[in-house]
Amino acid sequence: MPTVTILPSGKTIEATTGSRLLDAILAAGEPIVSKCGGEAKCGQCHIFVTEGKKSLSKTTRAENEKLDTIVGVGSKSRLACQAMLGAENVTVELLGFNSGF
Ligand code: FES
Repeated sequence: MPTVTILPSGKTIEATTGSRLLDAILAAGEPIVSKCGGEAKCGQCHIFVTEGKKSLSKTTRAENEKLDTIVGVGSKSRLACQAMLGAENVTVELLGFNSGF
């Protein structure tokens, strides 16, 4: 079972391979917004994956298209609603409530 470490709080939670990164972050009680319900449309679940990015599911076309519209996107960027956990542990950095705008 992979663990997800969430920065800046440093909280760590165990998750299930194949589950959404967004769900793990929400289960940890962390403040992440998912206004579109996980449809890759709002961009509010934009996070940085600082460790374990290769273990996540590949970026989908819809995710890439949304990321292209977000300011501050970098090589570590993912939409948490689109990233499925693999077997490896991951560390993510939350970017705040307004990161999707
Ligand atoms: S929850 Fe809207 S893009 Fe991820």
